[in-house]
Amino acid sequence: MGRPNLSDLEHFWTAPIAERAAAFASLREHEPVPFFPEPTFGMLPPGPGYWALTRFDDVVEASRTPKVFTSGAGATNITDLPPEFLEFFGSMINLDDPRHSRLRRIVSRGFTPKRLAALTEEVQRTASRIVDDALAQGECDAVTAISARLPLKIVCDMMGVPESQYEFVYAKTNTILGVSDPEYVEETADVLTAVLQAGHALAELMRELGRTREQQPTDDVTSALVNAEIDGERLTPDELASFFILLVVAGNETTRNAISWGLHLLTEHPEQRQIWLADLDGVTPTAVEEIVRWASPVIFMRRTLAVDTVLGGQAMRAGDKVAMFYWAANRDPAHFTAPDSFDVRRTPNHHVGFGGPGPHFCLGAHLARREMTVMFRELLTRAPEVHATAAPRRLQSMFINGIKELPVALY
Ligand code: HEM
Repeated sequence: MGRPNLSDLEHFWTAPIAERAAAFASLREHEPVPFFPEPTFGMLPPGPGYWALTRFDDVVEASRTPKVFTSGAGATNITDLPPEFLEFFGSMINLDDPRHSRLRRIVSRGFTPKRLAALTEEVQRTASRIVDDALAQGECDAVTAISARLPLKIVCDMMGVPESQYEFVYAKTNTILGVSDPEYVEETADVLTAVLQAGHALAELMRELGRTREQQPTDDVTSALVNAEIDGERLTPDELASFFILLVVAGNETTRNAISWGLHLLTEHPEQRQIWLADLDGVTPTAVEEIVRWASPVIFMRRTLAVDTVLGGQAMRAGDKVAMFYWAANRDPAHFTAPDSFDVRRTPNHHVGFGGPGPHFCLGAHLARREMTVMFRELLTRAPEVHATAAPRRLQSMFINGIKELPVALY
């Protein structure tokens, strides 16, 4: 096997998962911090390239050292985005302190244990309804009929987006995260324009909702963010809009893909299904973590070096870009026994699927775990035989480990 090229979207990221795992295993062993030229992104000129972290310990070290490994120049794209993108995509995931901690403090109001508890009932109701509908159909595409519906409903509900807008929000997030897949961006459209338009449309929806809630607050998170003041702070309309975009993008696609991969894994590993079914209460917490580890729905996050540094034996310079490959770290044999196997009882399982330790650790991790727990309990209780009838059709992306379509039968 030659040296893999992590920027080769068409070949490397569409290859079978086992091939991807073997390529990362070889890098981890022989060249754990390789350097790659950047993938192209629309019409933007390619930047200077990036270092790839493939070992668990290196990803953890970079995550917990935000003063050296900064997010402010962009955390979600290898390519530096032009300034007009920041209006929509400049929320806290792409910020450093002190702006990051200010925003995180304010929006954390939406993720308190009390709010999560209140959402749990809605998660349960929605999951039951989704399984009702899927059972009535007997066979369906799991992505659209099962996995996508729950996180979309919950994020929209949290923020107070009415049901009539769900389809719209769904389509726009697909455009934003599917930029590297020709299926989600019309052939005639320039990808950058498509992403900007999607951002603009979502921002408009949120500014409007923010204005309404300022005048007539309800008990949703939007009302809390535009009205209640903690330490005299609240979000500006633009901050609210870009936070909403971050939430729908970060909260939907990720959870959706985790659920879809879980269904695929259950199909591929009947013995793990039996173990899970035999003790639903006992096994669900570890099974959910194992699905997130195995799938790693977010493949990497980027950082930019504030100063010269050495990591994993590699010297790097201030200004260099570094991609932390969670997907690879989560398969590092130095940290996980038999990392390629799917083990619903894996303990311990300190994976980095929700990010490494540090200020940007996933704000929605508890919510995502709750959604997955409720959905799999509902499915495995009412449709214990649920299984995929074909291989997943995968998203072409180096950022999101996505499934576009997964036909399933519920009996
Ligand atoms: C299985 C599902 C999910 C996965 C795998 C996931 C993964 C991640 C990862 C890897 C990060 C970046 C950590 C870093 O840069 O250090 C992140 C950040 C974030 N996630 Fe999640 N996430 C999931 C679900 C959710 C949900 C349901 C929400 C909200 C509804 C959410 C909201 C966020 C936000 C707001 C951030 C940015 C935090 C910050 O910059 O301070 N995520 N997530």
